[in-house]
Amino acid sequence: TSAHLTLDPAFRTGTVDRRLFGSFVEHMGRSVYTGVYEPDHPSADEDGLRTDVLDLVRELGVTVVRYPGGNFVSNYRWEDGVGPRESRPSRLDLAWRSVESNAFGLNEFMTWARKAGVEPMLALNLGTRGPAEAVDLLEYTNYPSGTTLSDLRRSHGAEQPHDVRMWCLGNELDGPWQMGHKNAHEYGRVAAETARAFKRFDPGLELVACGSSNAYIDTFASWEATVLEHTYEFVDYISLHAYYDPVGCDVDSFLASAAEMDQMISAITATADHVGAKLRNKKKIKLSFDEWNVWYQSRFAGETSLDWRPAPELIEDVYDVTDAVVVGSLLVTLLRHADRVGAACQAQLANVIAPVMTRPQGPAWRQTIFHPFAQTARHARGTVLRVEPTSPVVETDRYGEVPTLWATATHDEESGDVVLFAVHRGREEALTLTAGVQAFPGARVVEHIVLHDEDTTAVNTAEQPERVRPRPVDGTKAEDGLLTVELPPVSWSMIRLT
Ligand code: AHR
Repeated sequence: TSAHLTLDPAFRTGTVDRRLFGSFVEHMGRSVYTGVYEPDHPSADEDGLRTDVLDLVRELGVTVVRYPGGNFVSNYRWEDGVGPRESRPSRLDLAWRSVESNAFGLNEFMTWARKAGVEPMLALNLGTRGPAEAVDLLEYTNYPSGTTLSDLRRSHGAEQPHDVRMWCLGNELDGPWQMGHKNAHEYGRVAAETARAFKRFDPGLELVACGSSNAYIDTFASWEATVLEHTYEFVDYISLHAYYDPVGCDVDSFLASAAEMDQMISAITATADHVGAKLRNKKKIKLSFDEWNVWYQSRFAGETSLDWRPAPELIEDVYDVTDAVVVGSLLVTLLRHADRVGAACQAQLANVIAPVMTRPQGPAWRQTIFHPFAQTARHARGTVLRVEPTSPVVETDRYGEVPTLWATATHDEESGDVVLFAVHRGREEALTLTAGVQAFPGARVVEHIVLHDEDTTAVNTAEQPERVRPRPVDGTKAEDGLLTVELPPVSWSMIRLT
């Protein structure tokens, strides 16, 4: 079987915003404690940060990290996590029914972000708290000095303001599981008033209003419409969250999860533009897909044995080859919508549904899903080219017919690199992909790497951390303006030309 597409710099979707390669650190399970922070770990630095994890985070190529939640943030008091450790309170975290020691808080996160080379993206508690506490946090975080809160930060060792640019106005407040759950009007008003105050402090801050927590919730799209009617003039982004569960659907539907992400992005773009039209406001709201991943969520829903412990093992999904191919295809979708998606965070970073796994006192390693993320973050630069492939289709229970090929490409004018990201979702046979590259005279293939395995259930573990990794493919060539690529079944590929 074969598929075809054309690469041409005349047809572009948008610019690759580096914030598309974001991630998420929540106070949940072992994400923070024994994930990024473990003072008595052999690799810990003077700040108690695991340097083995820091190395992997830099290799992953993460650009922006959302913190501190997630469901956790909706009942969080940021003041608990600053100042001398010995006087920080330990509290019950009702979101994850755990004990929070508060040994790690805002300033520790900022230190970690600096060392990891990532931009911080802070989420506010607009569940059980409101604009006043949010503005206090802003002043503590971003105001240089001379007020009680900014001087308090300085007395805590952070002399310079953190200058956080991107702020999430709460988390998933449409969800009945959320502490401080609200209806769209209630949330829209609180978000608008918080945003108004934030923009008064600094009109350049970038604010994200909460969108729906998933595409299946009853209020999907109507929530966004109402929230944006309240907040349109003050916010820059609306958030999207989606997790794709391999359990409970046919394999072909799971492999086609990117089709669902694609529809969701189109639906929310249309909703935002509808509100803009109604308000006669020419501004375009961008999308922040600030939680996305594969999550074996149905397994978690069955767990009832949560007890009140610090840093319990929570949703430590082990990802296989199929999961990694799906993650690669979700990144393709985000890039295909680069005109509207301005930020995205894979959820999460360490241990909790994460590309990086650790053992307390033990090693850190890369899950299968680490690889397509790292390669995409490294090579997707410049502009996204609009590709319109012709492809065979596969019949899925959930989405009907979907193309077996899912692809996008980027062109970096600075380096001259043209990079094709191609996922073959078919399970039976290889796909021969031809790509017209006449518009890039002299382009030659410098690299083709593939993530594929005869055993699609293969995983990486502490014992076999390199079992699944991308491999170089020899012989992929562009000749006479035509690139020809063999894509194995259930595979993710990156082909770089220059
Ligand atoms: O990432 C895990 C959880 O999923 C987050 O805390 C929440 O926002 C979402 O429901």
